Amino acid sequence: QAYRSPLNDFQRSEGRELVPTSWNSNLVQMLPNLNLEECASRCSQSLDCRAFNYETRPTVSCKHLPWVADRRNAEVKRNVNCDLYEKKVYVRQCIVGKGEDYRGKVFTTKSGLTCQQWWSKFPHDHWWTPTASNGLELNYCRNPDGDNIGPWCYTTDPERRYESCNIPQCKDEVCITCNGEDYRGQVDHTATGKECQRWDQQHPHQHIYQPEKYPDKSLDDNYCRNPDASPVPWCYTTDPLVERENCNISKCPEVPVEKRQRSSFTTNCFRGRGEDYRGKVNETLSGIPCQRWNAQFPHEHPFHPNIYECKGLEENYCRNPDGSEAPWCFTSAPEMRTALCLQIKRCEDDIEAEDCYQENGKNYRGIVHKTRKGVTCQRWNVNTPHRTKINPLTHPEANLTENYCRNPDGDQHGPWCYTTDPKTEFDYCAIKQCGMNLFLFTQSTFSECGQRDDRPQRILRIVNGIPGNSPWTVSLRDRKGNHFCGGSLVYSRWVISTKQCFSSWRVLLGQSDQGPIEVDRSPSLCRLPGRRRAAGWGASLLGPPELYDIFLIFVEAIIKTMVVAVCLQKDYGGPLACRNSDCWVLEGVIIPMRRCGHPGQPNIFIRVSVYVDWIKKVMEMA
Ligand SMILES: *[C@@H]1O[C@H](CO)[C@@H](O)[C@H](O)[C@H]1NC(C)=O
Ligand SMILES: *[C@@H]1O[C@H](CO)[C@@H](O)[C@H](O)[C@H]1NC(C)=O
Ligand SMILES: *[C@@H]1O[C@H](CO)[C@@H](O)[C@H](O)[C@H]1NC(C)=O
Repeated sequence: QAYRSPLNDFQRSEGRELVPTSWNSNLVQMLPNLNLEECASRCSQSLDCRAFNYETRPTVSCKHLPWVADRRNAEVKRNVNCDLYEKKVYVRQCIVGKGEDYRGKVFTTKSGLTCQQWWSKFPHDHWWTPTASNGLELNYCRNPDGDNIGPWCYTTDPERRYESCNIPQCKDEVCITCNGEDYRGQVDHTATGKECQRWDQQHPHQHIYQPEKYPDKSLDDNYCRNPDASPVPWCYTTDPLVERENCNISKCPEVPVEKRQRSSFTTNCFRGRGEDYRGKVNETLSGIPCQRWNAQFPHEHPFHPNIYECKGLEENYCRNPDGSEAPWCFTSAPEMRTALCLQIKRCEDDIEAEDCYQENGKNYRGIVHKTRKGVTCQRWNVNTPHRTKINPLTHPEANLTENYCRNPDGDQHGPWCYTTDPKTEFDYCAIKQCGMNLFLFTQSTFSECGQRDDRPQRILRIVNGIPGNSPWTVSLRDRKGNHFCGGSLVYSRWVISTKQCFSSWRVLLGQSDQGPIEVDRSPSLCRLPGRRRAAGWGASLLGPPELYDIFLIFVEAIIKTMVVAVCLQKDYGGPLACRNSDCWVLEGVIIPMRRCGHPGQPNIFIRVSVYVDWIKKVMEMA
């Protein structure tokens, strides 16, 4: 049975409050002790409610209002403790279907005639009577009789009795170019007509695209979006039996010129993740020629140049059509599906830093004292908010002056500092290496060698792998015990996984033939190293700086581990281990770029070797 959240009727504005002008503040209705969905449900059912403020601090409060934002009755103000929810039908400028529920404020017809007031019988006599429930307000266009022409009105022109107002369909209101990754329109149904699930909810489908984790993807309400470089915008559906479906949104008639010929295109180097790289490198780092994008051999794949029309998928050039970490290609070697083209250099002007450092920055003596996220550094000689395990006394040679960024421990990522944010112990600074490529590779330095039973077959991927053949694989489970992500045990008490996996979780290590052994039932399973226990589920996970997509988890209980079966669809965070002479090396952490285990779709991995220094430091500081 489909569960429909009452919140589906609303559009949310985070950190906003609708404040009535003083003369009508008595029209605000305060409802005590309601949770968010109850507050929404009551508002949905009430004819007098068009929006509500849901405040969470200092106390939970649900306030119903009879208007949406307008300058006359109420104004939207910032309030970090409050979210504003407005009924979609009142704020939306477009219609779904015939638009019987349209409650917008358009009052002119398609030929420009002003609408007649619904309560008036002049110039046109009619039998409609405005009521609280039929929406016949003032002279706004409405569709009370479900006419095929959509919202309409009687006109003030005696010669013209009524006319359509041409309110656009939501699927036509905002058209999409390319794969619609920048679509921010308001279609909330799939092509087959299923209602979309809200991105900020985890039912009926549990998923990783929580809006707060992907701030740049605008995962608003339950609107169709394309956060994962799919061919078109899509959504999870409210049908428990159908996880996700594509939405049918009109294509813009022509790809705008600036989309095809962006000045940000580069040819000899790449910026950011290289999505705009349009150069002609056509082989992998190790010299294997790339497969042509328009070929399906040796590797079958979904990146048809005509489906991904704005991604520059020409010839067999390295490209980044899916938001991977750098340009990549399918290779012409049957045994190697994809490879990053890491020989392409990062553009020198990609470095926005105010300052730069040489080599690893051990000799950096500048005065930058901010992290990459803009957080001010903590002074090296104080112990709040973080206890400085590295300080002027322990490292007299390192010039630990004031709160300046330094690199006393020779961190490969360069100068860093303890931060003044209690939630982030340390972070790297807003300084880059002088004119250097950001990709630095070092050999993994873990001394303990991964061992596994190698008899069945050599499997590099977990898909179709046999549980039990990778003793370092870990299953991350939600509170109900459902597996949702993978991880790898990288050291006796440490698990590595990807940050997209965490909202609520616990770690299970277990033996495949006995079923999983639960390490710990409580959220305190994970904790910040050497510091207080995590306050709540995932609330204060030990996380690396935002730039990194991997997480280390501290596992309190130590258990001789064996593998747990890793579910095909959900092995994000799981390992890509490769054999290196007689040792298994954890090369990659699976990140949710595309759907895992999909026929013909490669997975993308974080290169663990890049983070070895960071991992070591986090573990040492624990
Ligand atoms: C999408 O919409 C177009 C135009 O409204 C329609 O012709 C087409 O059949 C629709 N496609 C699907 C899959 O529903
Ligand atoms: C790669 O590009 C070079 C120069 O553009 C060309 O000569 C070569 O034939 C290409 N190789 C393959 C395998 O396409
Ligand atoms: C750091 O170096 C600067 C200039 O090289 C010097 O003036 C300062 O005293 C040094 N500070 C420490 C704590 O060593």
